[in-house]
Amino acid sequence: MPTDAALNQFLDFLRFGSISTDSKYKEQILACADWLKTKLTAIGLEAVLHETPGHPIIVARGPRREGRPTVLIYGHYDVQPVDPLDLWRRPPFNPGIENGIVTARGASDNKGQIFGHILGLEQTLKETGDLPVNLILLIEGEEEIGSPHLAPFLAAHRDALACDVVVISDSSMVAPGHPTFTYGLRGLAAIEVTVTGPDHDLHSGIFGGAVENPATVLARLIAGLHDKKLKVKLDGFYDGVKPLAPWERKAWKHLPLQEVDLLRMTGAPALRGEKGYSPLERIWARPTAEVNGIGGGYQGEGTKTVLPSKAMAKFTFRLVPGQNPKKIIEIVQAYFHENAPPSVRLTLTPGHSGEPYLVDPHAGFGAAAQKALGRLFPGKKPALIREGGSIPIVADFKSILHADTLLLGFALPDCNAHSPNETFPLSHLDLGAKLNRFVLEEISAA
Ligand code: BES
Ligand code: MN
Repeated sequence: MPTDAALNQFLDFLRFGSISTDSKYKEQILACADWLKTKLTAIGLEAVLHETPGHPIIVARGPRREGRPTVLIYGHYDVQPVDPLDLWRRPPFNPGIENGIVTARGASDNKGQIFGHILGLEQTLKETGDLPVNLILLIEGEEEIGSPHLAPFLAAHRDALACDVVVISDSSMVAPGHPTFTYGLRGLAAIEVTVTGPDHDLHSGIFGGAVENPATVLARLIAGLHDKKLKVKLDGFYDGVKPLAPWERKAWKHLPLQEVDLLRMTGAPALRGEKGYSPLERIWARPTAEVNGIGGGYQGEGTKTVLPSKAMAKFTFRLVPGQNPKKIIEIVQAYFHENAPPSVRLTLTPGHSGEPYLVDPHAGFGAAAQKALGRLFPGKKPALIREGGSIPIVADFKSILHADTLLLGFALPDCNAHSPNETFPLSHLDLGAKLNRFVLEEISAA
C-alpha cells in the first residue's frame, strides 16, 4: 500500500474536477495543472507549464546525461464528464476508499496510472538522485477531447521532445495480477447529426401523418448503419482494413478475459456483435459504428402529443489499422446525405478524430517492456493484446517524433472508466511505481 503522504496527495489530485470537455470546469483544469507542476518540481524534476489555446500541457524533465536513451512518459490529467450524477455512490470529485479501492472520476483514467509513474520517479530520484534514462514526462489536459493542441505542440517542440521511445499507462490489464502488454489501439472518428423537420414542435394530431417525424427519420438512418450480420453497411467502410493475424486469434482465446467476464463486468443480458468474430476480436481489432447519445422530442413525465422539430444523435466510429478517420467521416457524411428524405434538413458536425495504432510487440523496446512486466509478476508471461479504446496522440508520437509507444496500462477492465463510480485499486499505485522503475531500468539496459 502507498504511504500516507502518497495517498493523501493522490486524493488531492482526484479532487480536481478536471473535465476537459466542459468549459465550466476551466478553473479546476488550471488548478490541477498547477498542482501537477508543483508536485513534479517537488520531486526534483524541472517542470514547465505550457499554455495552449486550450488546456495547459505540463512537461517535466529529469537529469540529462549523454549516451543514455530518452524516454517520454505520457499521461493525461483531464477526465470525462460525470453524468449521470445520480448513479454515483459518492460525489465524483470527493474520493472515498472502501476495501482498498478508491472511487472518483479519473481514478483509473488516467490519474491513478500517471500518479503511479510519478511515485516511481519520486522513489528513484530520492534513492539515487538520478534516473536510469533521460526522462521527459508529458501530461496533457485534453486527451478526452481528442488532444487538439498536443500534435501542434509536438511539432513545435520536436527537438526538445525528441525521444527513443514513449511509455504510456492509460489502458488495462486483462485481469488482476496478469501482466499485460498492449501493442494496438483503435482509432476514432466522431460526428454529430441533427435532423430537422418542421421549424417548431407541432401538434401530432393536427399535422402528424402529413409532416414527417425527424425522430423516425433519424431512427431509420441509424438502423441503416448495420446489416443483418451486424457489419457496418457503409460503402467503403472496410476498405483497407487489416485482418487479424492468425497468432492473435489463437492467443486471445486463452486470455483470462472471456465472454463470461464481459457479461459480469457490463451487466448486459447477452453479448452481440459482428458475426464471425469473438467478443475480444470485435473489441480489439474490428471497427464499429456507435451511437453515443440520442435525443429529440418530449422526454418528461407522461405523454405529450408532439411532433418534434428536431432529433439528434452523436456518433463515434472506432477504427482499426488500414482505416483513415478523415475518409471515414466522408463516407459517413455521404451516407446521411444520400439516405435522408427531402422532408428533413440535415446538419452534420464532424468532431475529433484519431488514427489507430499497431506495432510489432517484439520489435524495438518491446522486449524490454515485457521483461519489466515479467519482473513485476514473476513467473507470468505478459498477455499480448490490443485495446478497443483510443489514445489519439500515439499515432502522432510516431509520425512527428518517430517514436514507438509501449502501452503498459495497469487499470482493470472493471474500473468503470467513463462510467459512474470509476475506481482504482490503491495497491495499483505501488504496482505503477514499480513498473515505472522496472521499465526505465530495462530500457536503459536494452
Ligand atoms: N484511457 C483511454 C483509452 C483506452 C481505453 C485505452 C480503454 C485502452 C482501453 C483514454 O483516456 C480514452 O478514453 N480515450 C478516448 C479518446 C477519445 C475521447 C478521443 C476514448 O477511447 O474514447
Ligand atoms: Mn478516457
